[in-house]
Amino acid sequence: MSCKILNPNKSQDLRMAANLILNGELVAFPTETVYGLAALGTEESAIKKIFLAKGRPFYNPLIVHVNSKEEARNLFASPLPDPFLDGGGYWPGPLTVVYYKAIHVLPIITGGSDKVAVRVPRNKIAQELIRLIGKPIVAPSANLSGRPSSTTADHVLKTLGNKIKAVLDGGPCRYGLESTVVDLTKKPAMLLRRGALQLNNLNFIESNNPNGSPGRLDRHYAPLIPNIRWISKENIKNIESNSGVLCYSSCFFEKIKKSELKLDIIQLSSLPRIYAKCLFSAFYQFEKFNIKSLWIEKLPPGNDWSAINDRIKRSLTSI
Ligand code: TXA
Ligand code: MG
Repeated sequence: MSCKILNPNKSQDLRMAANLILNGELVAFPTETVYGLAALGTEESAIKKIFLAKGRPFYNPLIVHVNSKEEARNLFASPLPDPFLDGGGYWPGPLTVVYYKAIHVLPIITGGSDKVAVRVPRNKIAQELIRLIGKPIVAPSANLSGRPSSTTADHVLKTLGNKIKAVLDGGPCRYGLESTVVDLTKKPAMLLRRGALQLNNLNFIESNNPNGSPGRLDRHYAPLIPNIRWISKENIKNIESNSGVLCYSSCFFEKIKKSELKLDIIQLSSLPRIYAKCLFSAFYQFEKFNIKSLWIEKLPPGNDWSAINDRIKRSLTSI
């Protein structure tokens, strides 16, 4: 199957993307977090194609994407318990809410669970696409299962290009990191996945039970490199030639430059927001270098880095 690259600035291209989805096909589209792989949320046979294209296990549920809080409310069995979230300023935005599902939400979406995950994206292309379709769409990140999420149309083409009908090329995603996922059936709310939205003001507990969110069970976000590890600047001597190095601090970069080693080095920003935006692109770039090991400079602790720390930890082959 050859994947069409569609231009979201052309109304006929957006219309074509919407029609493909309405006809039960898969189309990748940009959101402010990462690219999503969309199927019509009311059509079981279309949704099934997502699992097959990604190689995703059927027990791992999908996020439903809609355009407003009112449309979101239709997907839940009852009003959300927390008026702060329901009426608050988080939607549209990079927050996914898990709550008891309305009866009409298909079990294939929720992996058989009685809870559904819902998100209202802020990205204008995503909003326009959903508006044209006029129904909810389901969309996981547009990557092969276990691999880094796609943050550009190019990543989508490289990983899923032979399995989907089209991708809307909206350029690089604003955050480059997936949405924050919160389960509101728990009190206080349970944070299932750290992500692009920092929930500083909200009372929540962090889930340490990966079963709460099946997507947290396996190794994830992992580039195809046999050996991926943390490294601190004190241990630079452990790095061998022909490795990749991902760093952010100038002192690490200077120190590694002075070594005699032949390395593929990518230095990202020391600002977490910008580091996050470029992380998955760097992962895909390292895959092209034909390296056996990737060494990642240890990140600072703290809230600003926690979602990034989480993604890298899940990609490591060894701690
Ligand atoms: O930013 C994002 O959230 C992107 C864009 C495209 O919206 N989507 C995304 O979807 O990251 P995905 O499928 O790659 O990750 C969704 C996560 C998984 O860890 C999944 O297990 C969890 O949300 N999830 C989905 N539905 C759930 C449910 N009903 N209960 C618990 N966890 C759920
Ligand atoms: Mg994903």
